[in-house]
Amino acid sequence: MRRVVVINAKGGCGKTTIATNIASYYALKGFGTALFDYDPQGSSMNWVRQRGGKPPQIHGVAAHHAQTSVTRTFALRVPPHVNRIVLDTPAGLKGIRLGEILKDNDVVVIPVVPSAIDLHATAEFMRDLLLVIKARSRNMRIAIIANRMRAAVPSLSAFENFIASLRIPVIARLRDSGNYLSAAERGVGVHELPPEEFNDVRLDQATLRTIVDWIESEKIFPTVPVTPPSPPRAGPA
Ligand SMILES: Nc1ncnc2c1ncn2[C@@H]1O[C@H](COP(=O)(O)OP(=O)(O)O)[C@@H](O)[C@H]1O
Ligand SMILES: [Mg+2]
Repeated sequence: MRRVVVINAKGGCGKTTIATNIASYYALKGFGTALFDYDPQGSSMNWVRQRGGKPPQIHGVAAHHAQTSVTRTFALRVPPHVNRIVLDTPAGLKGIRLGEILKDNDVVVIPVVPSAIDLHATAEFMRDLLLVIKARSRNMRIAIIANRMRAAVPSLSAFENFIASLRIPVIARLRDSGNYLSAAERGVGVHELPPEEFNDVRLDQATLRTIVDWIESEKIFPTVPVTPPSPPRAGPA
């Protein structure tokens, strides 16, 4: 069993996009796949519903309903064939709630978009996250995914510097692509979009592959600093 947690307290950075695409890719590869939606907005659950019965099947779990420890055990059960669980998480997650969601041996992926405002939110979130990890486990692997990368973003070098200062690996860069929206609307991942119909979707598929390859590898990266440095000063986003 492997659990992949897609997380960042900042909304709109691509958590649902990345979680649903990872789930789709796992399912296509023949893994028993479940998608846990911890966001009360339920975007990932909507995505699962949108799939209808379309194979490969993905088991959706509305995990935010699991409030008490009694209902949680029941609600978070998955069918026996499931060996990959992808967690989509809500914005604003911190402190105790963050600690409740993360488990030992989780793989944690953090989407970040290159704007100064997002970097501030992400820096605060990182501090929280690293404290939880330090208290709980040394076995979590963490990676950053740079999302919505366009060639000429003014704050790009500040972005790059900040990310580099965290000493957490950036495992992929998602381009800004309408294919993610097209996939989301259909309840599929980019690997389920036919390349004849969707412009350059092979690029997006390759990016997804890179992400899952890293998740599935057991590569050890340098220990992360306990207190991340300050982000760059806010400028035009
Ligand atoms: N790489 C991308 N290219 C284009 N649109 C994107 C990309 N990543 C996310 N989006 C769009 O941005 C919006 C927010 O993304 P979403 O995954 O819902 O973020 P979150 O779950 O973190 O709030 C969605 O409309 C999504 O389709
Ligand atoms: Mg979301």
